[in-house]
Amino acid sequence: MAEENGIVRVEIIDVNSRGQGIARIDGKVTFVPFSAKGDVLDIRITKEHKNFSEGEIAGMVTPSRDRVPSDCPDFVKCGGCSLRHVSYRSEGMIKKATVEGALRKFGLDDAPVQDALMPCPERYRNKATLRIVGGKFGYYGKSTNTIVPLGGAGCSLLPEEFCSIARDAAEVAGRNGLRDVSITLRQSPDGGILVLLTVGEMPDPAAEGDLVRAVAGGREKVTGIAVEVEGSQRERVIFGSGVMELRQFGLDLALSPRSFFQVNYEGAGMLLDVIERYAAETGFSECADLFCGTGVWGLALAKRFPEKRFYGADIDRGAIRDAKGNAARNGLRNVRFFAGDASRIPEGYAPDLVILDPPRRGCSDGMIAALVGIMPENIIYVSCDPFTMARDAAKLTERGYVIKEVTPVDMFPRTEHVETVVRLSRSDMNS
Ligand SMILES: C[S@@+](CC[C@H](N)C(=O)[O-])C[C@H]1O[C@@H](n2cnc3c(N)ncnc32)[C@H](O)[C@@H]1O
Repeated sequence: MAEENGIVRVEIIDVNSRGQGIARIDGKVTFVPFSAKGDVLDIRITKEHKNFSEGEIAGMVTPSRDRVPSDCPDFVKCGGCSLRHVSYRSEGMIKKATVEGALRKFGLDDAPVQDALMPCPERYRNKATLRIVGGKFGYYGKSTNTIVPLGGAGCSLLPEEFCSIARDAAEVAGRNGLRDVSITLRQSPDGGILVLLTVGEMPDPAAEGDLVRAVAGGREKVTGIAVEVEGSQRERVIFGSGVMELRQFGLDLALSPRSFFQVNYEGAGMLLDVIERYAAETGFSECADLFCGTGVWGLALAKRFPEKRFYGADIDRGAIRDAKGNAARNGLRNVRFFAGDASRIPEGYAPDLVILDPPRRGCSDGMIAALVGIMPENIIYVSCDPFTMARDAAKLTERGYVIKEVTPVDMFPRTEHVETVVRLSRSDMNS
């Protein structure tokens, strides 16, 4: 721990939920981004806080055995990845430890956490929004509003075509003086790509024609292009279809450009397998899929368990429209969908299984109270934030539930994010 010229030598003893290494300097915790457990490093302190400090790597003394060379020239600058410097195996262990750590914070040390399920870590994102500025395109940099332009190699989390399409759209934006432009690309499992360009003001017909030629010309995979003015929530289709059709999870699905859909098809398939297994273990008869989005979990289960009944609710009317359409497309008569707040469970409705898949902020007090009001025998909680998941699971255990199993799924490889599926049962049930 000797200090010289503001440089301190430390050993990284752990990694936190944001993928940052943890060292102790005279007992005080110091977070060092892009370091790995076991690294011995020279670090520079960049910020002192009352209870912790932040540091940056000034020099490598002995690398951790978990380290691998990063294969991305923009890693560290770009805000996308935080775990590209460790092996994928250790990333899985970090994510499992993140989930265990969150549960421990809320006194749930005994919750049985499985090893993280790990899909392919490359080119897994089926959706991306890139900012276009001054003919360049890229992600926002780490904690900044500055664009990190994607270089020639592009981004290895994205399908290869995304970057070449964004490059052509950026050129069109530059030549036609389009302002405040971002591009959202979505790819279906069979490769079809839907493009949504968000702009400060609608382009004129000449610019639209230029965009269609540049983006769809010679690219059979582009199935649709739409343009919207930022904040309008209403897009105009200027090429092909504005709806993305996909065959996934045994279902034929159609999605409108803004509807939420899981960004990692393989990861979502793993997650669905866990949900299906947990549901099958409960022997349920009536299932509420709350925060259902376009209804994928409920629809897939409704197909798998045709003798059971399903109810889905989401606040997003567009998503519910898609969900209803998808139920009809797949001839599923055992599922109903409602647009509205998930906590407003219809009077007298008493499902014996509830699937919860809330946004990062987790469940409101009203949602927990509504659940306690109906006390379903089983709850399957799907979460993209281990902290709010653990907080809500703790509230449920205080009200008579036990955690049967927790499975982390690495939906977002190379980033610090991890999805978790938790099965809770009422403590008076045997299942
Ligand atoms: C993480 S997404 C899950 C979507 C869906 N389960 C899926 O996998 O595609 C969270 C969903 O919660 C919805 N939502 C947010 N607040 C809500 C509320 N108060 N009541 C109902 N749905 C809400 C959002 O519209 C979004 O679709």
